[in-house]
Amino acid sequence: MTCIRSEIIGFGHCLPPKVLTNDDLANMVDTNDEWIRTRTGIQSRHIADKDLTTSMIAGDAVAEAIKNAGISPEDVDLFILASVTPDNTTPSSATKIAGRLGFRAGIPAFDISAACAGFIYALMLADNMIRLGQIKTAVIAGAECVSKIIDWTDRNTCVLFGDGAGAAVLRAREGKGTSEDTGVLDVCIHSDGSLFDVLKTNGGVSSTQTAGIVEMNGKEVFKHAVVRLSEAAEQVMKETGISSEDIDWFVPHQANIRIIESVGERLNIPQEKVIVTVDHHGNTSAASIPLAIYENMLSGRIKKGDLLVFCAMGAGFTWGGAVVRL
Ligand code: ACO
Repeated sequence: MTCIRSEIIGFGHCLPPKVLTNDDLANMVDTNDEWIRTRTGIQSRHIADKDLTTSMIAGDAVAEAIKNAGISPEDVDLFILASVTPDNTTPSSATKIAGRLGFRAGIPAFDISAACAGFIYALMLADNMIRLGQIKTAVIAGAECVSKIIDWTDRNTCVLFGDGAGAAVLRAREGKGTSEDTGVLDVCIHSDGSLFDVLKTNGGVSSTQTAGIVEMNGKEVFKHAVVRLSEAAEQVMKETGISSEDIDWFVPHQANIRIIESVGERLNIPQEKVIVTVDHHGNTSAASIPLAIYENMLSGRIKKGDLLVFCAMGAGFTWGGAVVRL
């Protein structure tokens, strides 16, 4: 039976030009390259300068995705930006970008806050609207300037994160309703608010009238991340009727190489099929997955037609997974 699928027809990305290495961090806090590399796998990360905002890097990523998709801004029917570091508390950064890029007046454009799982939350919403026939073309983006909500004197957190943006264009396309189809084959999203305090900013608009800075219990986050990332990937593979042997690439959220390796092992996915960018991106929160996919498409590793499984988990906790054939 035929069905509507959301085909991903273009990706885009943007990384701030400034690169911060582990040695740079060792000059700022009591840490060293060896500790950061062995505990996290991170060697360097991109950091936005003071004047570079989330909407700027997200806008560049979206513009590139639209160009790569071969569409024009007037074709966009929906725009969702996943971010926890918007330019303004209101209006949304999505509307700012929609104005800058010339999206049609009248289309829905909004931000969503789902931390590191934000891109998958956005994918779920856009895919559902496409499959319901409400829209034909959606743009989703994950973009963060996490560096702006970090305490740069706290070695527990400041070594982990980086800034960046990734975007994708989704377009309705008829499929056969099988796992051979091109496009989004399955998505799941979840949350568990009982773990709200494990990873959070220590303030916000209505509580402290500030954005707050990131605080976390790293060991707890680590433990839950391994379980939830694995569960999400297992769920979407099961729902699609595929096994880990069928997939070409596994793209887990890029938070820590040890989390990535543990999840790969639990799912029996050989490390050669696991995409890793955490070494030079750090944890870019909602931008992590589209950045990882697109960078590996540019290098020629990920190709059109490949079957991808991705999953992410972040503050909330929120998590999710997806199966996509490019
Ligand atoms: N440099 C040197 N020492 C450090 C640093 C640092 N940057 N940071 C912490 N330490 C010290 C601590 O002070 C502590 O010292 P103590 O034992 O004297 O008190 C010790 O190192 C901590 O060591 P461990 O607890 O063994 O560190 P662990 O192996 O748990 O690694 C880490 C810590 C990297 C934070 C890990 O727990 C982790 O990655 N957790 C996941 C956190 C995460 O990814 N958060 C991002 C958002 S959520 C997500 O994206 C999934």
